[in-house]
Amino acid sequence: MIYYITIILSLLFIVKILKLLLLCRFYQKQEIKIITSYPIIGSELQKIKIFEKNQNQHSIIPVIDSDLIGIISGMNIQLFGINKDSCREIYNQQGVNIDRSSSSAFKKLGQRSISHTSTFEPLFKIRKNILINSIKDISNLIQISYKHFDILFEEYKLKEVINITNLLDTFIQNVCGDYFWNESNERYIVKYIDKNFELRNTLVIKTLMICFQDIYFDSKKILNQIIKFPFPLTKESYRIHKNIKNICNIFKQMIDDNEGSEVVKYIINKYKKHELSIDILLDDLIVTTSSGLNIIKLTLMSILWYLYDEKNLFWKMKFLKEIQMIDYNNYEKIAKCQILNAFIYEVLRYESSFSLLNNQVINDFDLIINSKKYKIKKGTMIMPNAYVIHHNNSSWKTHNLNIFDPTRFIGHEYIGTDFFVSFGKSIRQCPGKKYSLTIIRIFTYLFLSKYPNFKLEKCNNKNIGFSLYSNIDFNITI
Ligand code: HEM
Ligand SMILES: *[C@@H]1O[C@H](CO)[C@@H](O)[C@H](O)[C@H]1NC(C)=O
Ligand SMILES: *[C@@H]1O[C@H](CO)[C@@H](O)[C@H](O)[C@H]1NC(C)=O
Ligand SMILES: *[C@@H]1O[C@H](CO)[C@@H](O)[C@H](O)[C@H]1NC(C)=O
Ligand SMILES: *[C@@H]1O[C@H](CO)[C@@H](O)[C@H](O)[C@H]1NC(C)=O
Repeated sequence: MIYYITIILSLLFIVKILKLLLLCRFYQKQEIKIITSYPIIGSELQKIKIFEKNQNQHSIIPVIDSDLIGIISGMNIQLFGINKDSCREIYNQQGVNIDRSSSSAFKKLGQRSISHTSTFEPLFKIRKNILINSIKDISNLIQISYKHFDILFEEYKLKEVINITNLLDTFIQNVCGDYFWNESNERYIVKYIDKNFELRNTLVIKTLMICFQDIYFDSKKILNQIIKFPFPLTKESYRIHKNIKNICNIFKQMIDDNEGSEVVKYIINKYKKHELSIDILLDDLIVTTSSGLNIIKLTLMSILWYLYDEKNLFWKMKFLKEIQMIDYNNYEKIAKCQILNAFIYEVLRYESSFSLLNNQVINDFDLIINSKKYKIKKGTMIMPNAYVIHHNNSSWKTHNLNIFDPTRFIGHEYIGTDFFVSFGKSIRQCPGKKYSLTIIRIFTYLFLSKYPNFKLEKCNNKNIGFSLYSNIDFNITI
């Protein structure tokens, strides 16, 4: 019996590989370069090396003059749009011939959540609108951000050395936790299995943040890139599976206990009105709460990193001058600071720390880019490559894009363009943009006001990168 099963599985595997190679040929014939010298395993190894360098797979694409480029990812082909025109056309196909992928690794957390839901799902648009509306009013968020910065400042003000990773973790967990869950964050404890398989009692939002990262790291392992197991097979994926289960139970408990801020209560009421199931509600709440945690932290870390860089001393001085004129509590004014905004946008452009969510072709179709026709097959993964697009000078028409320089954002409105894609575009774009920028602006402003002469100390990483895969970690002295 086992013998036959093995043979059948091996045959299926071989068929899959052959199909993959044929698909490769199919795209290569259309002048789409598939960049890997070793099919399948080779490209995965290449990816792992990239992660070790603290970069993400999006930043490995070499300079190539074309519309699309491909890599082999797991047992599939991942196409990237690498100029503004292909980027725009791919976004136009979003919700037409392109949709969220059904096998994304992050699906483990919040399987039924909005980020993984098909655009064609009848209630998709309603759900997304509810989420967008729930976080529209930022007045509460402003207050909460100030409050938690002040609390942390009290705690850290006597310290000479600040472990910025810890400070930002605490800040972001408290702000997001409070904003969505009204301090119940501090009362709900999850049993979390840590990396050494010891059981710990950890605060719920903190666990969510760690778990999110665990999933990322697990999903980049070769085995998990090639075969998507429907159940936990390795010890690590079992650990993650257990932790996710425990987190979900606590969130369920919090909903049952009628916890949650105005924001969460708004979402719960609206979802009830539309008769959305409790499972969907739960997953959307988990994903909305957790989406920004790591990425806002990384953005803030890179802002501090570049502000400290002596090459940017000029900017820091300009920035300090700009904020000197603003009242501490005046967010309206802070939000309009030209230098502050330029700096933040340049970080978002330059680092592109987030990759767009996985998207898959759902019908065979012709992708037409500047009257050139590409035949694209159902099942192929396809998305714009933020990193390459953010570094393509023919779109941006501004000086050297490989240099960090906020000047390009002063007096230019790139935010709505086809080629500034930090928050995605079209129907699947990020609903958390305004929310994120609010926290980022407030933290940066307050930090610089309190610690204008901060210094960066000891960085454990040789390769600097601020992707979700990076373990970037440094201290700050004040
Ligand atoms: C600096 C912070 C952030 C960045 C750079 C960012 C970026 C992105 C990007 C690139 C996407 C994918 C868009 C696409 O596939 O086309 C996305 C999706 C999403 N983001 Fe964000 N995000 C940030 C913060 C947040 C926050 C704070 C929240 C929640 C409050 C959030 C909630 C979501 C959700 C729910 C989706 C899925 C939308 C959908 O599938 O339709 N994000 N984000
Ligand atoms: C930059 O964009 C142009 C046109 O939009 C395209 O021809 C070129 O291949 C792109 N360059 C890179 C490195 O992707
Ligand atoms: C948040 O919690 C505080 C005290 O813990 C309570 O007074 C307030 O009513 C709560 N707000 C919401 C929206 O539940
Ligand atoms: C973009 O960069 C390339 C190579 O560095 C250069 O040859 C080209 O002139 C630049 N294009 C623009 C529009 O600046
Ligand atoms: C910051 O603290 C964390 C855990 O508390 C530790 O792992 C890390 O090494 C510290 N960072 C630095 C740069 O010392």
